[in-house]
Amino acid sequence: MHHEDRHMTPDEFRRHGREVVDWIADYWERLETLPVQSRAAPGDVRAALPPLPPRDGEPFADLMRDVEGIVLPGTTHWQSPGWFGYFPANASGPSVLGELLSAGLGAQGMLWSTSPACTELETHVLDWLVGMLGLPAEFLSTGAGGGVIQDSASSAALCALLAARERATGFAVDERGGDGSLTAYCSTQTHSSVEKAVRVAGLGAANLRRVAVDELMAMRPEALDTAIRADLAAGRRPAFVCATVGTTSSHALDPLAAIGAVCREHGLWLHVDAAHAGTAALCPEFRGIHDGLEFADSYCFNPHKWMFTNFDCDCFWVRDRSDLVRALSILPEYLRNAATESGRVIDYRDWQIPLGRRFRALKLWFVIRWYGVEGLRHHVREHVRLAQEFAGWVDADPDWELAAPAPLSLVCFRHRSGDEANRRILDAVNADGGIFLTHTRLDDRLTLRLSVGATLTSDRHVARAWRLLREAAGG
Ligand SMILES: Cc1ncc(COP(=O)(O)O)c(C=O)c1O
Repeated sequence: MHHEDRHMTPDEFRRHGREVVDWIADYWERLETLPVQSRAAPGDVRAALPPLPPRDGEPFADLMRDVEGIVLPGTTHWQSPGWFGYFPANASGPSVLGELLSAGLGAQGMLWSTSPACTELETHVLDWLVGMLGLPAEFLSTGAGGGVIQDSASSAALCALLAARERATGFAVDERGGDGSLTAYCSTQTHSSVEKAVRVAGLGAANLRRVAVDELMAMRPEALDTAIRADLAAGRRPAFVCATVGTTSSHALDPLAAIGAVCREHGLWLHVDAAHAGTAALCPEFRGIHDGLEFADSYCFNPHKWMFTNFDCDCFWVRDRSDLVRALSILPEYLRNAATESGRVIDYRDWQIPLGRRFRALKLWFVIRWYGVEGLRHHVREHVRLAQEFAGWVDADPDWELAAPAPLSLVCFRHRSGDEANRRILDAVNADGGIFLTHTRLDDRLTLRLSVGATLTSDRHVARAWRLLREAAGG
C-alpha cells in the first residue's frame, strides 16, 4: 500500500488529512463526555507503546487507532468546556487550520529573506494588536519599537531581561560576561519564569529581589523604590523590573504607573507581563488594567492563553527595538544577504533566542480575521460575565468566601472550613471528571481557583462547577 519511497502522496494526504480534520471536529464535539483530567497513572502511556519503532511503515489507520486508544486516555482535555484549571489555553478552528497551513508551507522565517510573508505578516498583525488592545503607540513597528511572536511569556521575559542587561552595561555582558553586580526586581507574586530568566541570563537568582505586595497582592511601589535604593547604596547595579498585569495566583494588577515612575527615576527597564489578562484589553471597558503601560520598555501577552490561538503564541513588544536587536544579533557569513544589508527589513532571529522560527503569525491572523475584533470582545466579555456570576454565588453563600478580588475571569475562593476541607473538595470535583480546577495559596491558606476561558465554556458548565463544588462540600 505504501509507495516504494514511503512518501505520502498528495492523494493519500488529502484522504488522511480529511480523516484527521474529521477526528478533531468529532473530538471537539465529544469533549464533554471525556473526563477533563487524564486518569493515566505514571507509565501507563509508555506501557501501551511497543518497545521498538516499526521496521516498515504502517497504515495510517493504525496510527489513528493508537491516537484514540493510547493518546486520548493519556490526554488532559484543556479544550473541555469543564476546564477551569490554571489559565486556559484556548484553541479554535481558525487557529488550528492556520497552524496546519503553517506546517504545510513548512517555511522557516529566521530572516526576512527566508520567507518575507512570515516576517511581514507578523509585523503587521502585531501592529494591528497595538490598536486592538489600546497599547502605547511607541510599540508600533512604524516608530522605534515593534512586536514579535515568541513561543512563550517565559521567552519574552528572558529577551526583555537580556536587552535590559545589555542596555544597563553598555552591551558589555554580551562581550565579557557579567560581574554579578546587576539586580532585578519583581514581586512575591511574579510568575516563576522571571526567576528562570534571571538565572539563564546569568544575573543569579540571589540578585532577584522579591518586592512585597499589598493586601490586594499587587507590588508595593514604595517597597520597590526602597529595594532599589538599598542596592544602589550597596554598589549594585539595578537594571530590570518585571510588573504583572494579572498575576498567576490571583490576577492581581501591579500599579504600572507608580512602578513606572520608580523605574524612570532610577533608569531601570520595565517589562510588563500580561500573559493571561492582557487579552481583556480588547474590550475598552477593561483597558484600565494597562494604565501606566506608557512607562513600559517591553510588554507581552499570550494569545495562546485567552485569545483562541492554540499554543504556542506569545506577543512581545519593545519600545525601542535597537536595544533588543543589538543584544541578540549575530551575523555569521552564511546568513548574510542583500535584504539584511539594505537595512530595510526585519530579521526576527535578532528578536529571539533561537535562530529558526515557525510561521506563527498565520494562525493569529486567521483568528483575528475569523472572529473580528467584535467577535473576540464578545467572548472575553462572556468569560468575564461567567466568572463574575460565579463570584457572586460564592459571595452570597455563607459557607464560602472570596479569597481575593476577581477583576476579570479568575475567581479565587475557598470553603470556610479550612485547608483540609478545601483539599478534599478539590480532589472530589476533579475526580468526578466533569470539571477541572486547580489551587493556589493566598494568605497562607489553600485557595481554589476557577479560571473561565475555555472556548466551549458556557453558563451551564459554570453552574455545574458550582453545583459539584457544593455537593463535594456536603452542602
Ligand atoms: C503571569 C504569567 N506570566 C508568565 C506565564 C508563563 O507563560 P508561558 O507558558 O507562556 O511561558 C504565566 C503562565 O501561566 C503567567 O500566568
